[in-house]
Parts: sequence; C-alpha cells; structure tokens
Amino acid sequence: MSRILLIGSGGRESAIAYKLRQSPKLSSLHVFPGNGGFPESELLPAGAFDLKKKSSVQEFVKRNGYDLVVVGPEDPLVDGICDWLSEIGVPTFGPSAYCAQVEGSKEFAKSLMKQAKVPTAKYESFSDHTKALDYVRKEGVPIVIKADGLAAGKGVTVCFHLSDAEVALKEIFLDKKFGESGSKVVIEEFMAGQEASVFAISDGTDYFTLPAAQDHKRAFDGDLGPNTGGMGAYCPAPIVTEKVLEKVKRSIFDPMFEIFRRQGHPYKGLLYAGLMIDSQGEPKVVEFNCRFGDPETQCVLPMLEGDLVEIFTASAKGRLSETQASVGKGASTVVVLAAKGYPESYAKNIPLELPQTDSKDVVVFHAGTSKKDGNLISTGGRILGISARGSDLKDSVSKAYAYLSKLNVPDTFYRKDIAGKAL
Ligand code: AMP
Ligand code: GLY
Repeated sequence: MSRILLIGSGGRESAIAYKLRQSPKLSSLHVFPGNGGFPESELLPAGAFDLKKKSSVQEFVKRNGYDLVVVGPEDPLVDGICDWLSEIGVPTFGPSAYCAQVEGSKEFAKSLMKQAKVPTAKYESFSDHTKALDYVRKEGVPIVIKADGLAAGKGVTVCFHLSDAEVALKEIFLDKKFGESGSKVVIEEFMAGQEASVFAISDGTDYFTLPAAQDHKRAFDGDLGPNTGGMGAYCPAPIVTEKVLEKVKRSIFDPMFEIFRRQGHPYKGLLYAGLMIDSQGEPKVVEFNCRFGDPETQCVLPMLEGDLVEIFTASAKGRLSETQASVGKGASTVVVLAAKGYPESYAKNIPLELPQTDSKDVVVFHAGTSKKDGNLISTGGRILGISARGSDLKDSVSKAYAYLSKLNVPDTFYRKDIAGKAL
C-alpha cells in the first residue's frame, strides 16, 4: 500500500490523481498545491512546505513518510526535486535535474539530439542580433525563431515572410520582449507536417509508450488566435499509425534513452516527445518535455487500463519490466473550458456550478479552480477539462460536447472543433 504525495495544481494533476485513486494499492493521496476539484482530505494546507527549498521539501516528505512522490510540472523537476528526494531515499516519479534540462534548455535538447542522431530541425543559436539577421537572410523563409530559455512557449515565431523574422528578432534583441531569455535565440529550419504528442514512461532501462495524442494550441476554432497552453486534445491520433510509432521508438526514444544512460544519467519518469510528422510518415522532434503534457494527459490517462500506482512506483524503482500497461479500446477527447480573454488577461473569480455527469465515461478535470467559503470559483485561464471516453473518436467527442452544452458558466469559452480534423 502506498502513501503518495502529488505535486502540481493543473488539469494534468487532476487526471493523474483520478487514475491513482483507481488503484487498490493507494492508501492515501495528498496533493500540493492542488485545486478546487480535490477533496479537502487530499489538499495540504497552503505553505505546508516551500517547493523551491531543498531542506523544506526533504523535511516535509520525511516527516510524513510518503512511499512515493509524483511530480507533475516541469519547474520543480528542473530545480532538482527528484535529486533532493533521492538523497533521502524516497522514490519519486520524474527525471533528475540533469535529465530535465531536455525541457529546461533548448540548447541542451538540441545538442543531445545531434549526438544521438535523433531527427529534428537543423538549428543555429545566436546571441548577436546582426549575426542572427544575416543567418535568417542567408537561409530564407519559412524559418522558425525561438527565444532560448523558459519563455513558456510564447517565444516561438514561425516566419513565412522575411519581415516577420526581422520583427521577431527586433522584439527579442532590442525590445527585450522575453527579458533575459531574449539574450539568445535558436533559429530553426521549418518543419512541415502534422503535430502529435507521444509520452514514454521509463525506469532508466526499459520504457513503454502511451497512445499518441494531438493537442490544439490555438485559442479559437480553425486554429486561429494566439497560442495557448492547449485548448483540447484527443487520442489516439490517427496520424501516428503503428508504423509511425515504431519509427518514433527506433529513431527517437531508443537513442534518447540510450544517450542519457551513456552519459551516466539514466532517464526516469516521463519523456514527452512533441513531434512533427511529414507526409511520408517520417517523425521529427519539435521539442521534448520532461513531464506529462497538459491537456493531453486528460485524454491519454483515461485510456490506460494499467495500475498507475504500480507503474509510477516501478518507474521510480527501476522495475518497469514487471508491470503491465494495457490500453483500452476506443478513443478519448478532452475539451478545455477557458476564461474569456485567455491567454491574455482574463476574468477571474467566476462562480462555477457544475452539473453532474450522467455517464461514467465523462470526467470533469479541474484546473484553474479554487474553493472560497465552500463555493467553487475560477482562478486560472484554463478552468476545466471535460474529458470523455467513447467507443470511437466521434462518440467521445459527442459525449464531451453533450456535457459542455449543459454547462452554463458566464465569461468563459471553449473550442467547438476539438478532434474535428480526425473525424
Ligand atoms: P515549441 O515551443 O518549441 O513547442 O514551439 C511551439 C510551436 O511552434 C510548436 O508546437 C509548433 O507548432 C511550432 N514550431 C516550433 N518549431 C517548429 C519548426 N521547426 N517547424 C515548424 N513549426 C514549429
Ligand atoms: N500541451 C503542451 C504541453 O503540455 O506542453
């Protein structure tokens, strides 16, 4: 039996908790900081410990005798929380700080891919505005410009005209739009194709993949509007056929896990490959993340029929070969309900009244919610994820939207075309 501490507060952590609770091996679950969808009994008090401080995290975890810590978001992973907990002998689901650089630094990820011969866009990095401009003029468009460091996905401009690239470089170098991360840019070859997200869970030696998902990053229908954290997702993504998945394993995951091992830092936890798949079915890496994707997790995990407590524990302890991770039939879709204005400034404290779901296939995952005097209110831009499993994609999409049509929350919006391209 396991006492588990889950770190995080988003829709992703709500989906992880939902799956952990299904395990007969779970004796108790605590979450920090959590959100308004978690029962009071699972929520730790605000300020229970300081996530940024090694001694505070170690002391709290030791005192509470957790058997396993599960880390949702990237920041604590990049800070080294798994190393801190490994020092005190507490199994933790997630990669070390060294391995988490695969998300924390584009330069690290790119150089590792080069060494491991993993297919990705050709790139150069520059810390000089004029040299960057010369390079763009020499290479021509389309071309992709990325502010290095953690610009939260907002530092990427796909340029179809030379003038777009000139503006992007000016904003980064002269206007310092991304602050310090603007002191360096990565300029990448443009990759054409369709995007998909594939998650692999590893214990340092063995790994398995979960069904591929497709995210919808733009705010509005028809892939219009600004980039967001993700407005909805579905899985399995038909673009990732068995043949494509085999290529993803052989040309991407195998060499990545191998190079981490060779460097003396076996990768444990989840490795997220953001892929571009061209018209020939050849996958290339757009980016790696060192954690589950959000909102992809809210549609991927409901498909999993294995025991998540067992899987996370096996990953942390190097025993993945002893576990089973079967995946259910059918498909799954999640649609995000966002606050009006998101991803720019948005309404907050919207009162939420949520109708009951009338099917066990439909789950409402909370993200930016909180309880105030016993009442549920919105606190974030992405408020809820309505997730539905179905016999096929069409069925899952219609179940998710059937629930949304019963919802009557002012000052919110959601995309009406999630999974539309695959139907
Ligand atoms: P990133 O923050 O690196 O994930 O990039 C954000 C988005 O920009 C990706 O999801 C893609 O849609 C797009 N993108 C990034 N790099 C490239 C590339 N080299 N070619 C085409 N599109 C890209
Ligand atoms: N859905 C994109 C991400 O989690 O990074």
